[in-house]
Amino acid sequence: MIQRTFSIIKPDATERNLEGEILSRLQKSGLRVVAMKKIHMSRAQAEGFYHVHKERPFFGSLCDFMCSGPVVCSVLEGEDAIAKYRELMGATNPANAAEGTLRKDFAVSLEANSVHGSDAPETAAFEIGYFFNALEITG
Ligand code: CMP
Repeated sequence: MIQRTFSIIKPDATERNLEGEILSRLQKSGLRVVAMKKIHMSRAQAEGFYHVHKERPFFGSLCDFMCSGPVVCSVLEGEDAIAKYRELMGATNPANAAEGTLRKDFAVSLEANSVHGSDAPETAAFEIGYFFNALEITG
């Protein structure tokens, strides 16, 4: 099934100039970039994006981190895009990420874990709509 998912290349990765390498890996896997923008989120935008985590102890620190530098937001399209991108990213905690995954190779810590990807169709729909309108998505 052709699906869309949402990706963020996080501030720890943009700071190290890793956007090209990360995008290259996901394009080589067959995922297509159908929308993309580089932004510097405000604290309020980060809080809105991660609202599902607002009761978690790491919420404040996570929002501080996500607005500490620019991020690259993109919409990825392809066969089983949500599961495929999650496999490419590896486990949330880089200590548990499999060899060859983005987080194993690039993440600095559980918080500064280089990439975000949607975990389900409903979250993908919310996350895509949070950053992109219909006119900004191609394909
Ligand atoms: P992400 O996939 O962007 O979703 C929420 C983020 O919260 C997660 O990646 C991590 O970067 C961050 N985070 C920080 N602490 C934790 C934790 N204890 N459990 C899960 N996610 C955490």
